[in-house]
Amino acid sequence: MNKPTTAAQKATWGFPKPPIKWAGGKGQLLFQLAPLFPEAFDVYHEPFLGGGAVFFHLKPARAVLMDNNRELMGFYRVVRDELDALLESLNGHRNEAAYYYAVRGIDPETLPPVERASRFLYLNKTGFNGLWRVNRRGLHNVPFGRHKNPKYADVDNLRWVSAALRQAEIRCGDFRLAGQWVARGDFVYLDPPYHPLSATANFTAYSATSFGMEDQERLATMFREMAEAGCRVMLSNSDTPFIRQLYREFDIRTVTARRVINCRASGRGPVSELVIRNYE
Ligand SMILES: C[S@@+](CC[C@H](N)C(=O)[O-])C[C@H]1O[C@@H](n2cnc3c(N)ncnc32)[C@H](O)[C@@H]1O
Repeated sequence: MNKPTTAAQKATWGFPKPPIKWAGGKGQLLFQLAPLFPEAFDVYHEPFLGGGAVFFHLKPARAVLMDNNRELMGFYRVVRDELDALLESLNGHRNEAAYYYAVRGIDPETLPPVERASRFLYLNKTGFNGLWRVNRRGLHNVPFGRHKNPKYADVDNLRWVSAALRQAEIRCGDFRLAGQWVARGDFVYLDPPYHPLSATANFTAYSATSFGMEDQERLATMFREMAEAGCRVMLSNSDTPFIRQLYREFDIRTVTARRVINCRASGRGPVSELVIRNYE
């Protein structure tokens, strides 16, 4: 990771942090990923944004951010454009089980954007394990977390997040859309739902639809197209023969991650992941 040098950089070092906890978040891997990012680029693209650990680390001058989770991208838009109204709404929440389940039961489609974002952040911070998970019908199904003092309105961090997002285009949709927005000299970081290590191993419940082998193949096609268009492209995925085969002509390295999503103790050990790039 580049060390901060100026006083201004030192004062803001480490900020902002991802405002939400997200399955597959790259925060713990940044020290291993940072030396692999390109030193300079034009526009930054992250089509599987999630918690945005890499975006918030890089704080690029221009970015196009996307995810197909509508709650998530609506939340980022509100943090960028209506932060004060969001902070006011967050003040009204309570860390109590009955209240939590009542908020969880509200159909987010019926809420105006600020209240919808407020519900999203509140559930993420007070739910069990601080996760966002939905069932097949797309309904949030995480139980109450019994946290002593969840910080759902980390005002300083949310202000940094809002500032970092100010230069970004925030979009919602399938990753394939990203292909049309890239240009020579851009940097694209791809962090899709991982190809499962075994039939039951992986967490993929970010949204009601799952990410299968055909999606991995579509993604590899887009990787190649972006590489041919003159972008630098970097992708994270699990270390499986299928993924190694899909990207066999590119630079493939491994990094070591702690696995935290699997609830069985056996799923929590260190695990090797791949970082695939079309540049060195
Ligand atoms: C591994 S997570 C990204 C984690 C992120 N890098 C972080 O640091 O938090 C994968 C993300 O891809 C999103 N996703 C799943 N299928 C998608 C699709 N078809 N198009 C775009 N985003 C998708 C999920 O909502 C999830 O946020």
